Amino acid sequence: MPDFKGEQATYYDERITRLVPGYELLHGLTAAQLKILFPDEAIILVVGAGTGKEVTELAKLNSTWSFIAQDVSEDMLAIADQNFTNLGLSHRVKIHCGELTTLAERVDCALCLLVLHFLEDNGEKKALLNQINSVLKPNSPLFLVDLMKPETQFEREAQLVFCRTLGLTEVGQTRMRYNLEHEFYPLDRMRLSELLDECGFNVPHPFFKALGFTGLSCNKRA
Ligand SMILES: C[S@@+](CC[C@H](N)C(=O)[O-])C[C@H]1O[C@@H](n2cnc3c(N)ncnc32)[C@H](O)[C@@H]1O
Repeated sequence: MPDFKGEQATYYDERITRLVPGYELLHGLTAAQLKILFPDEAIILVVGAGTGKEVTELAKLNSTWSFIAQDVSEDMLAIADQNFTNLGLSHRVKIHCGELTTLAERVDCALCLLVLHFLEDNGEKKALLNQINSVLKPNSPLFLVDLMKPETQFEREAQLVFCRTLGLTEVGQTRMRYNLEHEFYPLDRMRLSELLDECGFNVPHPFFKALGFTGLSCNKRA
């Protein structure tokens, strides 16, 4: 997994839109669903909040929502913190660096966008999903966006071709091809559904698909 420290954090915002087809769209679609689901106050947990994209998008949609921005990278959260300050959002955001196990709050909704695919399916994915489940209130939703296993032999190559149209250089494309093989642990749909079930979530519903990148929502079982 990339460590999201130093330069990986500094240049994250300009890199990510070239690496994830539909990055803006997946955030926009997630936000739109939350706007419908939570017309009133809500505490929204953002797992792997990175440089703060989810919080800054969501904060515009409802001024009564508050946020917990969690991540394991101090460097990513430092950039998020600065972004929240610049946008006057700091009073609405609690920044939580480290594991979710130490979180005392119970939340109305959780987002885990572009995070789970970095964890191995050797208990690591399960541990994170179990931790998310344990901080959610009963019946509350989880929105998950993850790189999934390719469903055709040409899907990954097509993804890399499309990234060139997003501005990825040839060198970047070669690096991304290597990283997709070695730094991601994508699941197929069956395994992800099984894992969500094992971790106390109901059947997931897809809401986004851009080649390998897939968005799902599911609810914590009561
Ligand atoms: C690709 S970034 C996604 C950031 C943000 N969600 C977005 O959509 O731009 C992945 C983030 O997940 C974080 N991360 C990796 N493993 C994690 C874990 N076990 N718990 C929480 N965050 C984690 C990384 O530090 C990084 O900030």
